[in-house]
Amino acid sequence: MKEDEKTEKLRKIKEEVLKCRKCDLCKERIKNNFFPVVGEGNHNAEIIFCGEAPGLNEAKTGRPFCGQAGIVLDNLLNYINLRREDVYICNVLKCRPPGNRDPKEEEIRACSPYLSSQIDIINPKIICPLGRYSMRFIFEKYNIRENRTISKIHGKVYQVQVKTLKEITSFIKIIPLYHPAVAVYNPNMIEILKKDFGVLRGVI
Ligand code: URA
Repeated sequence: MKEDEKTEKLRKIKEEVLKCRKCDLCKERIKNNFFPVVGEGNHNAEIIFCGEAPGLNEAKTGRPFCGQAGIVLDNLLNYINLRREDVYICNVLKCRPPGNRDPKEEEIRACSPYLSSQIDIINPKIICPLGRYSMRFIFEKYNIRENRTISKIHGKVYQVQVKTLKEITSFIKIIPLYHPAVAVYNPNMIEILKKDFGVLRGVI
């Protein structure tokens, strides 16, 4: 698909998300004058990073990973010579769960079709779920049977065969990574994240 066509399709998703009322998170969003965080970056990206849900900074600005976890993510991208403009960054949930609590099953069920469409439109070669909620969703989307937790499988490379929206057979590599926020709370985790980003660098 040409980049213009992708941009137009992604714009339509953004429009839908802006008026979405599919779960209760929209009430908090409206009450607080928050933005949904749809996703941003290169519409032709070969790599998608997918987090969990917006935090407070993200909900105030509408931009993904623009708080503390975002600084960690930017440093890790920099470490492997990537820039935000090279990749696409989004989340499983588009609206902020109050108090940054974990996403609920019904919220993921309501919201994840947006993410699923975004991925299908961008048609990346590599998807890096950031954290366990995103990992679980991406594994489900691609029918990957994996019961182990992220602590056991971070930095491993999974490959799936997919049919693109244009019915072309292609392959996607999935590399689950720890959520960058882990390094905000535990600075020792940065070394593990760097090692896993090194794996990503190796498959690009
Ligand atoms: N954490 C996430 O999972 N996503 C963001 O956009 C910010 C923090």
